[in-house]
Amino acid sequence: MARLDPHSYNDSTQPETETLDWKARVDFRTRRLHAEATLTLKEASAGPLDLDTRDLDIRGVVDAQGRPLPYILSPPEPILGSRLRIELPSGVKQLTVRYRTSPEASALQWLTPSQTAGGQQPFLFSQCQAIHARSVVPLQDTPRIRIRYRASLRVPKQLKSVMAASFVAREEHGVEAEEHYEMPQPVPPYLLAFAVGSLTSKELGPRSRVWAEPEALEDAADEFAGVDDMLKAAESLFGPYDWERFDLLLMPPSFPYGGMENPRLTFLTPTLIAGDKSLVNVVAHELAHSWTGNLVTNASAEHFWLNEGFTVFAERRILEALAGPEVAALHAALGRRSLDEALHHFRAHPQLTALRTHLSGVDPDEAFSQIPYEKGYLLLRALEDAVGRPTFDGFLRRYLAKYRFQALTTEEFVRFTESELPGALAKVDADAYLNRPGVPQSAPRPTSARLEALEKLRGKVPSQADTKDWTPTEWQLFLESMPQDTSQDVFRELDAKYSLTGSRNSEVLVAWLVAALRAGFDAPLGRAEEFLGEVGRMKYLKPLYSVLASSRDHRKVARAAFEKNGARYHPIARQGVELILARA
Ligand code: BES
Ligand code: ZN
Repeated sequence: MARLDPHSYNDSTQPETETLDWKARVDFRTRRLHAEATLTLKEASAGPLDLDTRDLDIRGVVDAQGRPLPYILSPPEPILGSRLRIELPSGVKQLTVRYRTSPEASALQWLTPSQTAGGQQPFLFSQCQAIHARSVVPLQDTPRIRIRYRASLRVPKQLKSVMAASFVAREEHGVEAEEHYEMPQPVPPYLLAFAVGSLTSKELGPRSRVWAEPEALEDAADEFAGVDDMLKAAESLFGPYDWERFDLLLMPPSFPYGGMENPRLTFLTPTLIAGDKSLVNVVAHELAHSWTGNLVTNASAEHFWLNEGFTVFAERRILEALAGPEVAALHAALGRRSLDEALHHFRAHPQLTALRTHLSGVDPDEAFSQIPYEKGYLLLRALEDAVGRPTFDGFLRRYLAKYRFQALTTEEFVRFTESELPGALAKVDADAYLNRPGVPQSAPRPTSARLEALEKLRGKVPSQADTKDWTPTEWQLFLESMPQDTSQDVFRELDAKYSLTGSRNSEVLVAWLVAALRAGFDAPLGRAEEFLGEVGRMKYLKPLYSVLASSRDHRKVARAAFEKNGARYHPIARQGVELILARA
């Protein structure tokens, strides 16, 4: 018996799943999927087969001939869920589990019509990363095991499903439609993804279209019009795009993340719709995952930095190619600020600030932070600086070629890097990044003329001449650097001059609200309350609730806002906010 992933019951001595055939009927009335999962194993075997499940109502397990197979569903464990152990008689290569999901399935959010842009139809979406796929399908829910799949979804006829797979066909039967999909490339289970709602699409380029509710479609198409140029830039950096299509899905506001790199169909928060394409670095990030993450995959949540650190590095290379080094440096500076904040936040748990984490008994959603993103980015930047860009680019290409369609650990990364770039790890003190808390003094510091200009204006009210060329990213950096003891007059003057409370850019707005409220400037309190009812993206909910909860006067406002809006947040976001309020 060997369990290699602390977040899965998978036993590496048992046979691996090769393909999944998944059929599900989407029932909005009961908020359940009525489903059937057929797993085909790489080889026939005899003995126990352990699958991950969470809150699944198992109706039966049969072999390919329909003969019942014995199974035991263990009591749920809080982080892992319930182990489903199926006893395979010798020679069995295929088995089918019939089951229903729970209305509380952790990967699913069921929205009422009032939670959508159109207000007329319900909506359903999945979010499986890191370990929620098991609440939708019983499977070996570890990124070490990749599966190909076919899926069919039965949905109310007036709705459309979309899936992170290739679309095959739609058939209508009475009041329902059945839509068929296929994912021919093997993917880790956390990349299984779908959504159902009133969805339409618009072409953005030969390989991309955007899906959204009709009410939001035109704005989304304008915001993401540059996606084809982005794809070309990414291909020239990292090699051919392997997933045929790069479609985008504009999510309802309660989507808890900025973006999710579901293959062929990236999910994006509607808070990216700023009207000026200023937040498309998130699209670049999810696109970059097509190489780093979806092709070359972390072996478990303990090596999450291999997904995110590489992807942030790749995202900034795409930005640099499209918008120039100054813009990439501004984003690196934002990243460094968020890293310093995360280090401060985890000061009581320094081991969670090493890149290589040890997460037995730790929920990956709770360990989530900017550290794997930004400390990982700094390690890769340090390596790039140490060996020079051309050498590092060659290294990156060979890394992608060697590990494509595989998962790897930090230790394998170290061995590969040592053999490809001898001495480079020692030169940058990689061990300090990988295995020790904090950030080494020697870590690269983003510099640029625009950053220096910003630094000089710290805590002041800049003139119109100062700000006339500022991008929203510069506004965000300026606001995030406001000293805590900045006088109220500065905030009042800033808002009078630049209408920050009215900003359409969600990053600028949140940076403004947090800076102002933290310094005790209460004028934008009403806007903060309103915003907490408009969005469900955790990146915004957490700092806003934190800043409110940390003030005696505003704690009540935070509690009331959560009372009012909490039920509409995604369960992961709700949990995060609950924790903040409980600690206040
Ligand atoms: N894969 C992540 C989102 C994620 C991580 C979901 C862990 C569940 C568990 C995605 O690629 C991501 O990093 N999104 C960022 C985008 C940003 C770094 C540009 C986000 O949501 O803010
Ligand atoms: Zn990412």
